[in-house]
Formats: sequence, C-alpha cells, structure tokens
Amino acid sequence: MPVSHQNNKAVLTHPSGASAEVYLYGATLTSWKVANKERIFVSEKAILDGSKAIRGGIPLVFPVFGKGKAPHVTAALPQHGFARISLWKLLNSSDETNTVTAEFGLDHSLISEENRKLWPFDFSLVYTVKLAADTIETKLRVHNVGDKSFDFNTLLHTYFLIPDASSVKVIGLSGVDYVDKVLQTTVHQEGDIVIKGEVDSVYANVKSPDVQISYVAEQGGVQLHLKGLNDVVVWNPWVAKAAGMADFGNEEFHKMICVEAGQVAEFIALAAGGSWEGSQVLSESQRTVVEAGQAEGQAEKDDLDHLFDMDDSELLKVDNPWVAGTTVGGLSSNGDDIVGDIHQQLMLYYRHFFPFKPFFQWLNYDITPKPSKSFLNREICWTLMDETFIRFQSYRTLEEFKNDMIRLNPAKFDLGAIYNIRPKDRHKVSPAAFIPVSKEMVFDIDMTDYDEIRTCCSGADVCTRCWEFMTVAMKIIDAAMRDDFGFKHILWVYSGRRGIHCWIADERARQLNNEQRKAIVSYMEVIKGGTQQGKKVKLPSTLHPSLSRSFETINKHFPSIVFDSQEILTEPENWEKILAIIPDEGVQAQLREEWEDSPGRAPAQKWEDLKDYIGKEISEHSGKKQLLEHIPRDIMFQYTYPRLDDKVSTNINHLLKSPFCVHPKTGRVCVPIPIEECENFDPSSPPTVPQLVRELNEYDATHPAPDEESKLQDWQKTSLRGYVEYFERFLKGLSREIREKKRQEREEDKDEENRSICCTHK
Ligand code: BG6
Repeated sequence: MPVSHQNNKAVLTHPSGASAEVYLYGATLTSWKVANKERIFVSEKAILDGSKAIRGGIPLVFPVFGKGKAPHVTAALPQHGFARISLWKLLNSSDETNTVTAEFGLDHSLISEENRKLWPFDFSLVYTVKLAADTIETKLRVHNVGDKSFDFNTLLHTYFLIPDASSVKVIGLSGVDYVDKVLQTTVHQEGDIVIKGEVDSVYANVKSPDVQISYVAEQGGVQLHLKGLNDVVVWNPWVAKAAGMADFGNEEFHKMICVEAGQVAEFIALAAGGSWEGSQVLSESQRTVVEAGQAEGQAEKDDLDHLFDMDDSELLKVDNPWVAGTTVGGLSSNGDDIVGDIHQQLMLYYRHFFPFKPFFQWLNYDITPKPSKSFLNREICWTLMDETFIRFQSYRTLEEFKNDMIRLNPAKFDLGAIYNIRPKDRHKVSPAAFIPVSKEMVFDIDMTDYDEIRTCCSGADVCTRCWEFMTVAMKIIDAAMRDDFGFKHILWVYSGRRGIHCWIADERARQLNNEQRKAIVSYMEVIKGGTQQGKKVKLPSTLHPSLSRSFETINKHFPSIVFDSQEILTEPENWEKILAIIPDEGVQAQLREEWEDSPGRAPAQKWEDLKDYIGKEISEHSGKKQLLEHIPRDIMFQYTYPRLDDKVSTNINHLLKSPFCVHPKTGRVCVPIPIEECENFDPSSPPTVPQLVRELNEYDATHPAPDEESKLQDWQKTSLRGYVEYFERFLKGLSREIREKKRQEREEDKDEENRSICCTHK
C-alpha cells in the first residue's frame, strides 16, 4: 500500500525504501527518509495531539507570516495563520511509476469558527506531497472560491535535521538583501550563510531557485528547488530562544535549521475565482563543498596528495585511439558511430584536445612563459563526476595543472580569483590574510532567466529561436563595456548548454574591487523584480545615451523575437503578460477585445494597435501622458534587454566555469564566440568529443605522418581549431597591452634613475 492512513497521519512508502509521514493536523509532514536516513527534524518535545502547532516537520504557514499587522485583515489571526493548526482531509492518494502521491485539503468549512470570523473568505487549499526515490515535492495550491479577493502569505516552514548547526552552510542566497529580524535591519548577504547564533532572516526575491544546505563537516546535504516561490526564511532559535520554547529541547537548536520557502515579503492578492500555486522539491545532495577546515583537508588528502609525485612520462602512456581498429574506453576509433560515456569522452578530451598552451598564456597574463603570480595564485575549482567540488587548488607549473586535470578527469572546472598568496597555502595564514586581489570582470547570462518571456523552450533547453535573446545580450553588454567603460579585451564564451559568459580581461577590469563591480552591474541593470512583478522596467523619459544605444539593438531584434520566434502576440496567454504591463485597465480591455475579435490579426499589427490605443488614451486624457507615454518602449526593453545573474559579476571571488570545458550534459565544448559573428552563432554547432575524435581520425587518415617539427597539436586537426585560433587572437591583443605596460614601467624606472643621479650630482 503506497499511502496508508494510520490514525491521524498518512504514511507514504516508495518502492525504493524512501518514506514520508504527514499528520492530518496542519497537514504537517513530520518525516522524510531516504535510505533509512531521516532528513526532517521534529522536536522531542513536540506536541502531536492537535492542541498546538507541531514543533518541527513542515508546518504550513497560511494566510499570514508571523503576526499580522493592523489594519490588515490578518492582524488578529494566530501567529503564522490557521493552516498549521487546522485538521486537514486526505483527499487522494496515487501510485504512479516513479512517485507516490498524497493530496490533502483544507477549506473555510474546516477551520475553527473563530478563525472563520477573523478571516471571512471562502478559500480552498490543496497540499500535494509527491515522494520519489530520492526527492520529495511539497506543493501548495490556493484557490479563491469566494466572490471577494483576499491577500495571503504562505511558507513551507521546513525544519531540517542536520548533523550540527555550527558547521552547516546555506548556499544560494548570496547577493540577496534580507531583513534580519534579530537585529531589525536590512542586510546584503555576501557569500554563504553560516550559523553562529540566533538567526531569523527573511530573504525576499531570491535570485536562484536552488538553495543548498551543505553539511560541511560531513559529506552531503539537502538541496531545495523552489517553484513559484520567491522568498526564503532562515531560522535557528539558538540558546536563549530555545530555552524560552516549551515544545523545544534546550539543546535541540544544534540539530536543526529551518530553511523555509514561500511568499512572505509581500502579500499575494488573489482575485475572486483565482488560483495560485508554489512548491519546493527537496533532494539529497551528493555535493560536498570542500573549502574550509577539516573537510577540505580531508578531501585534499583523499583526492590530491598522491598527484604530485606522478611521473611525467605517465602522460605519454595513453593508449592511442587513432590506430584503426582499436577502441579506447568504449570510443571506437574507426567507425562513424563514435560513442562512449561522458567520463570516457572527457578523458580523451583532456588528453588530446584541451588547448593547454594558449590557456596557460591567458591565465599567466605575461609575455614570458615563466609562471607569474596571476597563474600561481589563481584559484581553480574542480568539479568531479560525483559532483564533489575541490576548491582552492592552484599550480606551480602548467605541467602540474595538466597532470591534475588528467588525473581527476573533472566534469568541469571553474576559475576563481587571483589571491595575494597561493590558494593552496591559505591555511598557512589566518582567514583574514587570504585576500582575493584580482579577477576578470565577468557576466553570466542564463537562458532560464528568460523562462517567463520565452515560449519555444524552457529550463535547460535552447533552440536557435530563443538563442536570439543571447545575441541581443552579447551585443548590448559588449557595446556598453567597450564604449562606456573603454574595455578592449572581451571574450564571450558559450556555456555549453543554455548560456553565455563574458570575460573582460583588461588589467583595469581585473583590478576592480567588489564595489566597482557592483557599480558596473547596476549601471547595466534594467530588468528588476521577481516573477510576481508585471512591469519590470522603470526608465526615465529621456534615456541615458548608453540605453539609447541599447535601444537601437532592441529595435532591431524586437520584431523577430516578439512577433515571430516567440509569438508573444499570437496567443492570449502570452499577450496577456504584455497587457499586464500597461498601467491602464481601459486600454488593456480595448486591446483585449480588439485582439480576441480578430484572432488572425498579425502580431506586427497588434503591436501597432497597442501603440495607437496608448496614443489615443493620452490624447484624450493628457494627465495620463507621463504614466503611459513610454510603455511601448519599456515593454520592448522588458522583452529583450539582457537579464544578468548579478552575484557572479559582483563578487571578485565568485567562481565561473572555465572556457574550453566540455559541458557534461551536452558533451559540447564551451567555445569562444567572436562578437562580430555572434548573430550567426548556433548553440548546437560547437563540437562534441565524439565529433572531434572523428575529425581527428579523418585528418590522420588523409595526411601522411609529418616529421617531428611540423607536427600539429590534435586540436589543430579538428573543428576546434577555428575557436582556438580566435582565442589566440584575443591573447595577442592582451599581450600587446602587457608589453606596452612593461615598456612604460621600464621608462618610468629609467626616469626615476636619472632623477636620482641628478640629485646626487647636485
Ligand atoms: C520563522 C519566523 O518562520 O518561524 C520566526 O521567522 C519564528 O520569527 C519561527 O520565531 C517559529 O515560529 P513559531 O510560531 O513556530 O514559534
């Protein structure tokens, strides 16, 4: 029986052995076990008889977070609302191929008379718990079944059972502003959250839907993926608060942390007849973030200690897959059907195709091959196949770096900052003395941030139609960085699946501190607000020259993106999002009527209608000019202007995947994209490893074996060549800058010398 109803709770059992328990009181999930390991905390003192909210599990906060404030209608409701203290009904249970699901319901008829009086709305809540082998989804749907609109907050107030609160990290909220309810102030989150005392923080409008609780001192952790939920609360009562709670043990704060996903920063207004839903997916996290103290030392010992006594000649002992008829690691060398798992593909890629020399030249930022501080002190972070991160690696020579890459065979690697000392030596100094000093200014643009406006694909998928968003982003950012900031050495790189990275390598860019990076990002930021917010662009009537230049690019691409490839004005569900941006219900209604009456109307014509109706409204009501005049322009910005992942840019020590990695999911090389050709870039065109193997075979079969001197690198025999040569041209520009700087420094030294000679002769 996948879902059994035992007295006062439902028990879900998955064939894999995973299980969950949900009390009907509050529909409070009190247990989630994977591989027999409990993940959810419930206090030993929790009261389970339905006389008080359960202290632990996942109590459901609804319709108010904390205590409501007068004059709002929720002011008199109990703390966190009534959903967690009402008796729910088990509505349904089902057992599909991979999941076991139970559905619970609560409506106005099931809450107490008193609460019904305090909150006189007709509502219905459906709470779905979906258990899979190693994940669990908890989803809340809110329906307004009455005839008046109501406001609500909600929160999946999850208490996680953890090994030790002082050694967990909550990752994924860096860069978000939060209200610190303990200090009663607003703070900007820098980096990961660590717990050192009472924590009660409300993070509004989080930037990423993924939050991780990492058990730093032990392997693993838990991953939360938020859907339709924008805020996260992090809570640990610590000593004093714990002592004041009758249903919580004095020492239990060590074993728990609440990371609560929901909508609490602002009320959601749900119109009569309307519905809303939000959910979280919890999963076991295999990742170990190795970066500090004991855990890191351990990982280095396990993974790396033996690496540096490796004999260099080992590199030469690689089987040669290019001899016809041989098979290396499952990659056949002589047929067309070159296959093999990604592990094997990466092994071949690092040994044969990775362009080590130009890559080293880039990281070295020097004109001599001697490793400079830029190379020696650069953080490299390896991500292994099992998703273990090995942070703060650094190398003395290119050979060391190369050997490690081949030995570890990483799924990918990231570049971090260049520090004042070698990252590997950081435990020789106090944490405060380990300082990031430079790094390229970077931008990260991810197609998933366009999910609310793109219609052709979603999530990790991309196609040439939505790729045009990336083209616009590249053009706009590149022009701003060159024209407004004077940067010259800009490298655009395909992320291998659904995004692009920009690396600005001018010395001036590398030296920027966090404040300056933030200033550049806010200069570039136009799209603001979470998914709930309709109008996300607020620009002055007269555009800054930089935005006027961006607008030229937008003008060029808007029709093809919005009218053609994304068909935003074709279907009501999409055009409604555009209408919602117009702050005038009358104009919205007129356009809706016009478009519904003529379904065949061309999108370009609809766009003209929109401009005409707005123009007409302004001419009839001159008072609306300021509000409406620039709405068409702002819609164009909202639908095409780049969406930036700002935390990647604003923190000097943030990691970013290196160019020339292979994306482990697509198998494609993360190649540079020449900005002049960005319009023609097709994300499905960069080579995959099997393709490189085939090309190499073909080359060798058709070219006689050269003598040692004229021997080519393997990448030179494949389609990777064009990309690497473009990268080399980028490096040439950089070398010129470095050479020029050295010449100037020499001259300054000479002048200085002459001056001091003059002085001594006087
Ligand atoms: C958190 C709040 O969500 O819940 C805290 O931010 C509060 O302020 C905590 O103390 C627990 O609330 P309660 O009502 O279950 O004690």
